[in-house]
Amino acid sequence: MAKASNIFWHAGEVSRQDREKLLQQRGAVLWFTGLSGAGKSTVARRVEKKLYDMGHLAYVLDGDNIRFGLNKDLGFSPADRKENIRRVGEVAKLFADAGIITMTAFISPYREDRDMVRRLLPEGDFIEVYVACPLVECERRDVKGLYKKARAGEIKEFTGISAPYEEPLAPELVLETHRESVEESANKVIAYLRKQKIIPGGE
Ligand code: ADX
Repeated sequence: MAKASNIFWHAGEVSRQDREKLLQQRGAVLWFTGLSGAGKSTVARRVEKKLYDMGHLAYVLDGDNIRFGLNKDLGFSPADRKENIRRVGEVAKLFADAGIITMTAFISPYREDRDMVRRLLPEGDFIEVYVACPLVECERRDVKGLYKKARAGEIKEFTGISAPYEEPLAPELVLETHRESVEESANKVIAYLRKQKIIPGGE
């Protein structure tokens, strides 16, 4: 709901195209989605490092981190997750407009919320990356010890245990992190960026 009136959009003297030319890349949003512990942040950070080493500017917006600041007023109810994703979508939109290859690592369990972000962004900017790792494997890893707590009933509405995860129906990319290494997953992302001419080097 928009609350403000009498506000005006103001364009600057430097365009998105100018910034992209400066950076030698196209701005885009790689939207990583998947269960907690699937490897979203790990792969995104490896891609960030690879891009940096290639001379490209990328940035990772990470679920846990953003919840310490911008979204510290939000919990894990469906409505709060929706607002979490909406805000991150808006931030990612600004980053992409800045010409940055933006990676978001949020469970983002609801299809409707991810599709809302897709619609929010200019055509072609939203790249849905499904980090597909079976629940049993995420639970076996249990990096943060949260699945154990969720099973014990100490955490309510935990995705995969007591709250739903809706798989993407037509993601641009699927990473099978239970059978490929972090390096392999990251390379698949880089190859996709080349193919889409977000970074140079594609055929
Ligand atoms: S999202 O569903 O709104 O997209 P987000 O990615 O921001 O979630 O945060 C998920 C992280 O919060 C998990 O990786 C986990 O560390 C932590 N977390 C705490 N409580 C929950 C919960 N009930 N469900 C899922 N993740 C939780």
